[in-house]
Amino acid sequence: MTYWSAHDPSSKPVAGRSAYLILHNTSEVVTPDAEGREVLRYPKGAIVFRDGRVLEVGSVVELTKRHPDARPLNANGKLVTPGLVDCHTHMIFGGNRAAEFQMKLAGKPYAEIAKAGGGIRSTVKATGAVKDEVLEKQLANRLERWRANGCTTVEVKSGYGLAPRRELRLLELMGGAAIRVPVRVHRTALLLHALPEEFDGKRAEYVEEVRTTLLSEIHRRGMAGAIDVFCDPVAFTVEECRAVLTRAVELGFAIKLHAEQMERFGGAKLAAELGARSADHLESAVEEDWKALAEAGTVGVLLPAAALTLRQKLPDAGMIRASGARFAIATDFNPGTAPAQSLMECGALAARLCGFTAEEVLLALTWNAAKALGAEAEVGHLTPGAWGDAVMWECETLEEMPYWMPAVRPDTVFMRGADLALPSVERRVWP
Ligand code: NIG
Ligand code: FE
Repeated sequence: MTYWSAHDPSSKPVAGRSAYLILHNTSEVVTPDAEGREVLRYPKGAIVFRDGRVLEVGSVVELTKRHPDARPLNANGKLVTPGLVDCHTHMIFGGNRAAEFQMKLAGKPYAEIAKAGGGIRSTVKATGAVKDEVLEKQLANRLERWRANGCTTVEVKSGYGLAPRRELRLLELMGGAAIRVPVRVHRTALLLHALPEEFDGKRAEYVEEVRTTLLSEIHRRGMAGAIDVFCDPVAFTVEECRAVLTRAVELGFAIKLHAEQMERFGGAKLAAELGARSADHLESAVEEDWKALAEAGTVGVLLPAAALTLRQKLPDAGMIRASGARFAIATDFNPGTAPAQSLMECGALAARLCGFTAEEVLLALTWNAAKALGAEAEVGHLTPGAWGDAVMWECETLEEMPYWMPAVRPDTVFMRGADLALPSVERRVWP
């Protein structure tokens, strides 16, 4: 009998029957190595999946000889890579903020829009107004859209609940959606996002309730693998974030931070100090921050859609390379700053805005993103033993991946070595 833990929806059985197949006639198979150090390229390579995992990858002649019983599947000269990993999304929310986007474009700053009743609090209201079953179905549909765009592992943050009981509701619905779809879902509780209305004037009380009661409840019910906070002048201070994250670490949670987004504020150094899995945004970070992340082994996560929407600059590839830090690229999908629904598109944007090579983009969308989720032993690469989550793309070379805009699309997405039909997402209600 297959077992999957309610504590970890990402471990659920995601595909039907187990397959033994050999994918051949590719243009090339391209994957990070198991340690995420370099990108391996197998021109006209083949890949063998068995029992949901990668059994072997290499030369088609040798693999065909060794696996005469594997079911052959013709890749028709297409590029094959690992399934992409979107390591930062806020995809459980109601409504949208298109009107606010117009205000931003007219020059009104994010902080002012928030003060005037827009921003995170307005999405909290819209999310609260959506029925449980609708919110869960909407999230499941979004996850399917991500799979259709080549993402086989997706992180989903709560954060549009704010008040403890509303955050618990979102985490619960996330668990429900995660078992409906063949996507590996990593649940993160984003707990210090904004001050909820009912705690106006009671900021310290809110942080304390999150630190004690809420964290313990999430832990007791196994509702998230990681805890996230928004460390920023418009959100929470370094000290408030430290208090919550330190307790989270004591409880055994992995931690991550929204850091250095609107201003340089100390979040990246805090991430390094506490051994966070990732520090995300970093639009205002400097080389010293990146070096601290490198030393701590914390992944820096770039969110080009948010930077573009807020008309901010992204860091230069040369500076990141010199720091020695690992970086990932994610969508940050949320209604306020990043209504971005294609991770590959975000990769294509980051390549242009930062100056990344095609190999760097691939690492940032696969192995490094998996590392930001603590999942790099199992996903983000196609080396023997990894899950057989792979994408056959509608292109032939790795260099085409960051090149095409709109982004290159998957032809076939494999989960656990099985070709699962892609949903006809384009017929679904936007978004
Ligand atoms: O990642 N920075 C904080 N959170 C989101 C935006 C939240 C919102 O505006 O709704 C982000 O950009
Ligand atoms: Fe975010």
